[in-house]
Amino acid sequence: MRITLKVWRQPGPDQPGRLVEYAAEDVSPGMSFLEMLDVVNEGLIAKGDDPIAFDSDCREGICGTCGFLIDGLAHGPVRATTVCQLHMRSFKDGDTVTLEPWRAKAFPIIKDLVVDRSAFDRIIQSGGYTSINVGGAQDGNAILIPMPTLEQAMDSAACIGCGACVAACKNASAVLFTSAKVSHLALLPQGQAERYARVVHMVDRHDGEGFGSCSNEGECEAVCPKEISITNIARMNREYFKATLLRGR
Ligand code: SF4
Ligand code: FES
Repeated sequence: MRITLKVWRQPGPDQPGRLVEYAAEDVSPGMSFLEMLDVVNEGLIAKGDDPIAFDSDCREGICGTCGFLIDGLAHGPVRATTVCQLHMRSFKDGDTVTLEPWRAKAFPIIKDLVVDRSAFDRIIQSGGYTSINVGGAQDGNAILIPMPTLEQAMDSAACIGCGACVAACKNASAVLFTSAKVSHLALLPQGQAERYARVVHMVDRHDGEGFGSCSNEGECEAVCPKEISITNIARMNREYFKATLLRGR
């Protein structure tokens, strides 16, 4: 296949960017999208040009490092799929595909398709942990948790922190991410000690980082590669309400 790429090129955070056209030749349908970009980059390097900067690590859909907009869709056209797990068989010979970085004030562009997602790290640092001693793995196994609760907690814990939910939201809100992190600890016995302080600190940090508010658009759930449910947002709002009653703020 031959694919025409229109790629957002921006040399640095404070420099202007623009869409630049490249031809991806001899693209195999079995290639992943990132492998196709690797080949394009090899061609650019061979010509002495600057390769297209993009993030990736595991390339197995588990680390949350990759992600950009493909024709305006976070992670591209296939549901529940990270860009590293997207294959070129999802495109047709002759297609023109536009690649842009996540667009959100709280995710400043570093270069080309790479954005700074350290705001997510700071939300986690503000409360996404337990400080109690839960013992070794065998002690964890001794704490009986009802299966439906365990499954809900595991579903929430599946969030990989990719940022697609922010990129898809018209408010650039990160409440799907924040609520997934709040939920998985609020559901488990190990998370109870800091349960109410956690939700207040994480929501405050979310707002302080410049993410927008939720207006129930549902775009976040639609693009999430891990199918994190917006029921997590409802749970986080209930947790926050209870916390404000208990803490008097
Ligand atoms: S909620 Fe989904 S889209 Fe948002 S950061 Fe987590 S995995 Fe990515
Ligand atoms: S590179 Fe790890 S999820 Fe895509």
